[in-house]
Amino acid sequence: MSKLNRKISMAPMMDCTDRHDRYFLRLISKNIFLYSEMIATGTIIHGDRKKILEFNEFEKPVALQLGGSDKKELAESCKIAEDYGYDEINLNLGCPSKKVQKNKFGACLIKEPDLVAECLSAMVHSTKLPVTAKTRIGFDNVEDFDYLNSFIGKIKAAGVKTIILHARKAILKGLSPKENLKIPKINYPMVYDIKKSNPDIEIIINGAITNTDQIKNHLNKVDGVMIGRAIYQSPYFLADIEKEIFNNNDVLSREAIVEKLVDYVDMEVKKGTRVNQIMRHTVGLYHGQRGAGKWKRYLSDNMMARDSDFQKVKHILDIVQNNEKAEMVA
Ligand SMILES: Cc1cc2nc3c(=O)[nH]c(=O)nc-3n(C[C@H](O)[C@H](O)[C@H](O)COP(=O)(O)O)c2cc1C
Repeated sequence: MSKLNRKISMAPMMDCTDRHDRYFLRLISKNIFLYSEMIATGTIIHGDRKKILEFNEFEKPVALQLGGSDKKELAESCKIAEDYGYDEINLNLGCPSKKVQKNKFGACLIKEPDLVAECLSAMVHSTKLPVTAKTRIGFDNVEDFDYLNSFIGKIKAAGVKTIILHARKAILKGLSPKENLKIPKINYPMVYDIKKSNPDIEIIINGAITNTDQIKNHLNKVDGVMIGRAIYQSPYFLADIEKEIFNNNDVLSREAIVEKLVDYVDMEVKKGTRVNQIMRHTVGLYHGQRGAGKWKRYLSDNMMARDSDFQKVKHILDIVQNNEKAEMVA
């Protein structure tokens, strides 16, 4: 198996990084590594598997992120994911939402290093795919290098060779998931120190990274950078990443991306996908450009169009390419 390039990855984001978003992001970036949203093991085992797991080969390389803490279910989910063609399986140890805690997965597992190690070991033994973990640097009142380093040690001993560290702790009680992405302070030095103490594993840093200068700085200290909101909200940021981080100038223009996406919409609508399931991910495509508001307005006016109105999506393309192009893409 060729080594996966995790220099830059798109963070797993619930309700965001579904297969349509990943297809769209892949149109902009050849080199980024993509993650699915978190999917609970129970959903994979008992749900509509094909609908939940199937994806387009074009998205690859893509990792599936699992939520769970039952080692049998995790191992079974890994086997299933391998059959579906994913390139990596990641375990979520960082989500602080109440619902997720109630089901005993996500960030609350940072408190249970031995259970995490058992789960990861079962996963590693169930699949040929690399198994990775994504976690935070602490929880509640615990933001301590020794605690984190010992947790990392257990994850490593389970056979995991890549760990993604969201550089802020999780507050398990009293903060909403949104607040948990803002209020606990970012602590990059803690992540750098973990890399220094664990040179044998790949450490990916995550949290509040928004431009290529920051990315370059982090890459001097860790192995990779994971970005969530900055890419989701402004997907064409990936074009800068391709050019400046991967030295790839062969990047499609925004219009060419929309054109290719319309072909994808055409294909997907025939399979029963609704137009807005795809186009909703493109709201930020013109972020920061003159006329960006027009694109957003156009999408919100037309995206909910019934799919028999697919022509309207084609019209989006016309708008971008024809008379309003100059105004939109100043
Ligand atoms: C809308 C949203 C959904 C998220 N869903 C997940 C998820 O499913 N799994 C996960 O590990 N993290 C999830 N996260 C956290 C991100 O993966 C990432 O760790 C966090 O946003 C910090 O990175 P950023 O500052 O680059 O956005 C989510 C974040 C947001 C904003």
